[in-house]
Amino acid sequence: MSEGFHLVSVEEKLSLKRVGAADSSAVAVDFTAPALNYRVSSAVRQQGLSKAVGVKGSFRPSVLDATAGFGKDAYLLASQGCDVTMLERDPLVFALLKDGLMRGLASQQSAVVDACRRLALINRDFVELNSDTFSGVGSVDVVYLDPMFPESKKSARVKKDMFALQELLGAANDAEALWSHACAIACRRVVVKRSKSAPTLGNRAPDIQYKGTSSRFDVYLTPKP
Ligand SMILES: C[S@@+](CC[C@H](N)C(=O)[O-])C[C@H]1O[C@@H](n2cnc3c(N)ncnc32)[C@H](O)[C@@H]1O
Repeated sequence: MSEGFHLVSVEEKLSLKRVGAADSSAVAVDFTAPALNYRVSSAVRQQGLSKAVGVKGSFRPSVLDATAGFGKDAYLLASQGCDVTMLERDPLVFALLKDGLMRGLASQQSAVVDACRRLALINRDFVELNSDTFSGVGSVDVVYLDPMFPESKKSARVKKDMFALQELLGAANDAEALWSHACAIACRRVVVKRSKSAPTLGNRAPDIQYKGTSSRFDVYLTPKP
């Protein structure tokens, strides 16, 4: 699906751009972006995600973000104090994430550096992950899933970077497999981000739902003995 796209350097950021398109259409991972860090500081906007993964009082769950994408959700959780391992299977998106993480770590903003230090990044397909290939897998409190859903369309609500991801990767149809694998791995819960009206995943109803204006978080409790 990656024909027509290439990676270029725009303003010293590794960026994804359609061949022949203007630099202004390029997208990059930027953990120093004011809009992203505004979300970090805005309690109202982030509470759905934080509550969904189980941030409460001083408790900060460890999170495996199995579908990292541009790493925004992972960054929001790391900014809350969670240790987050980001998995990304697409090599172009992985390269963007790696570049964004390196720049975040080198940032002059201490809050950005602190959050980036809690982020780990692995170029791997989540469904290929097992205890032999990822030694920390047994101790992940939460597996977080935000797959690319077929119903996503270009609209004013789809941000530029997500639209580029949709064009690059297309819709995935393995969300059910991701869900089953996540339930087998997570020690405490699986959290699935879905568009507001999308059906739930899996063979059981979510234990908890947190609804936002355009999306929701479905929480499946998976306590392990
Ligand atoms: C909708 S994006 C995630 C956006 C992300 N939550 C964010 O905040 O930027 C989905 C990403 O998951 C990745 N992905 C999908 N299935 C995957 C899998 N099985 N293993 C690893 N990455 C996967 C895709 O390549 C894509 O980059």
